[in-house]
Amino acid sequence: MSLPPPLMAMLLLAVATAPRVLAAGDDGGIAAHPAYADAAGTCGPASAAPAAAEARRLEEYDDGRIVDITHAYRPELPAVGPDGLGPVVFQTMSMANGSICNLSELRMVVHAGTHIDTPGHMIQEHFEAGLDADKLDLAVLNGPALLVDVPRNTNITAEAMEFLKIPKGVRRVLFRTLNTDRKLMWEKEGDLSYVGFTEDGAQWLVDNTDIKLVGVDYLSVAAFDHLISAHVVFFKNPDIIPVEGLKLDDVPVGVYNLHCLPLRLVGAEGSPVRCILIK
Ligand SMILES: *[C@@H]1O[C@H](CO)[C@@H](O)[C@H](O)[C@H]1NC(C)=O
Ligand SMILES: *[C@@H]1O[C@H](CO)[C@@H](O)[C@H](O)[C@H]1NC(C)=O
Ligand SMILES: *[C@@H]1O[C@H](CO)[C@@H](O)[C@H](O)[C@H]1NC(C)=O
Repeated sequence: MSLPPPLMAMLLLAVATAPRVLAAGDDGGIAAHPAYADAAGTCGPASAAPAAAEARRLEEYDDGRIVDITHAYRPELPAVGPDGLGPVVFQTMSMANGSICNLSELRMVVHAGTHIDTPGHMIQEHFEAGLDADKLDLAVLNGPALLVDVPRNTNITAEAMEFLKIPKGVRRVLFRTLNTDRKLMWEKEGDLSYVGFTEDGAQWLVDNTDIKLVGVDYLSVAAFDHLISAHVVFFKNPDIIPVEGLKLDDVPVGVYNLHCLPLRLVGAEGSPVRCILIK
């Protein structure tokens, strides 16, 4: 069989390069994840390691740039009363007991740990209008955010807000307070002397800033003495989303990309949320 020279060259090129592509998994220096060891053994070339560029992309976020600002759902998380949150994950099927798998149920108040509130939490018309956890605006929950330190000798009053001088245009602010210094989220017994917004502080924020996401470091955005009134100031503006119970320990003040993803709980006036910062 004789082929015209150009075709012959193409064929040679294909034969010469193919083995190198297939061998990349062996000598590419990129080990398969141990969890996929079996698959690599049985699936041949299809499980070859990702190309270098792809591998770099996969590792991109693995360099300490992600800060998890969500509290783990431990039974010792604070709740109203002395006993803490208690267990939230209940195993209902156990392989140790002869079941075909281990299976657990989640049972908890939707305002436990790191969570969001919806306007229907305290305003009946908003609840009836269906402003539930499923309707929250992901564009508010994700984007650039500012972490600030509130002076430690005060609740978040109008005066404190004025002092903080948060520039117009800033839409997401995480307020770190005395609560973090006191490690209140690490105390199982609920502590009603926590710092939060007073009614005039909440009103000042609504009147003088563009803030739509209000993050705080204890279970309530409102100080206990203003529990309903400060919440209602926020909830009257259904585009404002309070994010409560954030874990802001040891995070440097500054600007981050915030990502908060609540669960799509239809009909619920709150939801647990996973929030992370990316430096
Ligand atoms: C299943 O749950 C039991 C406890 O009921 C535990 O001892 C066991 O390690 C679990 N098995 C797996 C595969 O997770
Ligand atoms: C497994 O069996 C033990 C002993 O009867 C029991 O205490 C435990 O609650 C069971 N666990 C589940 C998940 O069924
Ligand atoms: C904040 O207000 C609460 C009452 O809502 C109070 O117990 C607490 O002492 C105040 N904290 C500061 C730092 O002023």
